Amino acid sequence: MMNDKNRVVIFDTTLRDGEQSPGATMTHDEKLEIAELLDDMGVDVIEAGFPIASEGDFRAVSEIAERSKDAVICGLARAQLPDIDRCWEAVKNAGKPRIHTFIGTSPLHRAIPNLTKDEMAERIEQTVTHARNLCDNVQWSPMDATRTEWDYLCRVVEIAIKSGATTINIPDTVGYTAPIESADLIRRLIETVPGADEVIFATHCHNDLGMATANSLAAVEGGARQIECTINGLGERAGNTALEEVVMALKVRNDIMPYHTGIDTKKIMHISRRVSTVSGFPVQFNKAIVGKNAFAHESGIHQDGMLKNAETFEIMRPEDVGISGTSLPLGKHSGRAALRAKLKELGVDVGDNQLKDIFVRFKDLADRKKEVFDDDILALVSASGDGDDALQLVNLHVTCGTGPAEATLEMEIDGKEESATSEGDGPVDATFKAVRMLHPNKARLQLYQVHAVTEGTDAQATVSVRLEEDGMIATGQSADTDTVVASAKAYIHALNRLIVRRGKTGKDVKEISYRDVT
Ligand code: KIV
Ligand code: ZN
Repeated sequence: MMNDKNRVVIFDTTLRDGEQSPGATMTHDEKLEIAELLDDMGVDVIEAGFPIASEGDFRAVSEIAERSKDAVICGLARAQLPDIDRCWEAVKNAGKPRIHTFIGTSPLHRAIPNLTKDEMAERIEQTVTHARNLCDNVQWSPMDATRTEWDYLCRVVEIAIKSGATTINIPDTVGYTAPIESADLIRRLIETVPGADEVIFATHCHNDLGMATANSLAAVEGGARQIECTINGLGERAGNTALEEVVMALKVRNDIMPYHTGIDTKKIMHISRRVSTVSGFPVQFNKAIVGKNAFAHESGIHQDGMLKNAETFEIMRPEDVGISGTSLPLGKHSGRAALRAKLKELGVDVGDNQLKDIFVRFKDLADRKKEVFDDDILALVSASGDGDDALQLVNLHVTCGTGPAEATLEMEIDGKEESATSEGDGPVDATFKAVRMLHPNKARLQLYQVHAVTEGTDAQATVSVRLEEDGMIATGQSADTDTVVASAKAYIHALNRLIVRRGKTGKDVKEISYRDVT
């Protein structure tokens, strides 16, 4: 792979930089699922987490490492020996492990641990050497590189290379750089720093000014051969470079950017939907490549052109990113085999028990809705419950109109049916209050979001709910043709996950952020 000078390594950090973004917390099983999808899609390096941050992160990185197939599994570590040791413990069982260690090198970041330039240089030498003694694949990052003094950046990059780093990542931590500067910085580093030709240079961009994709592609022009990115551009603030954007840009504009990746682009849409579901971060409708409208041609003139020749308005085909073009909807006469075939076509792999569960809900939906489209099926998959949940919705009756709404809710709590009635400011408020009467809790509602899955008034609504309690975050999703029922189920789903976290796994919150650089 490395002998091909135009091959760009795709380094996905959805499970580290993406997951660390407030509210995007994923469960252990969700992290394993996403890692497997990334591996199957052809991602070269998966940054699976920050092992010293919490017990949960350590377990997730270790298990992802053990289950990895082709991808390099990487863990993040601050420039401290115990961090690096913990990181190595977590990744060492991967077929291809990598340690990624970093320190903030700009004047603002140097001030946090209060190190002089010389002291920091010494720390870099010591920590990179230590990492390299443990693992022969070491990545080093000068955090906030784009705001680090040029001379000092050259000096520390040289030290990291001499100490054994095999990949040098140049982060634009605050999304400050612009394309011309991004290309120029990498080009000059490669020209100036002794030993630069023996390592891979990587680019890691944040999207604060909306330039992350352009900056990453420009860095490749400048000589970078690794792009760090996340699915859907997930990440704190405005997010990271979106994997689907850089990969498709390199594919579609290969005429002017003659670089290639190992990504199976047909798997993009499915993983985008899964990341959106498990993180509770919806994809904006007009988002490039994976937005609901990215391939929709609404206006008459566009539709006319499309019917005559799809290339009139399409620079890539929906199939290229895994959107099945003309697939027929299912209906109430479709059987289990048809559902299984449809799921396969959509790239969804489910076990027999999950298929049984989805089939029951598919039949229920098909009774209420004439045509069940691909998006409806995907919503059913995303909303499939966790099985032995402590709280289950049994019945919901709501009256609402111009006056106050009233909800009567029956719920099974640890196997026992109970019921409550509450008034509220609208049907959803009344329903959530009734849930709280039956299961009192102090969880704060951080997010409540409703989306119509397809067109029409009989469309299913998907609802996402994010709750926060004592620093623990849990998300819940559900789908139903009745928006209030979907809301109740999503709320109960999130509460069930909080119960599991509180009980079985204890308080699984990150104690350290990668920004706590000391
Ligand atoms: O944005 C950043 O600087 C990072 C580093 C830890 C690489 O995520
Ligand atoms: Zn970052």
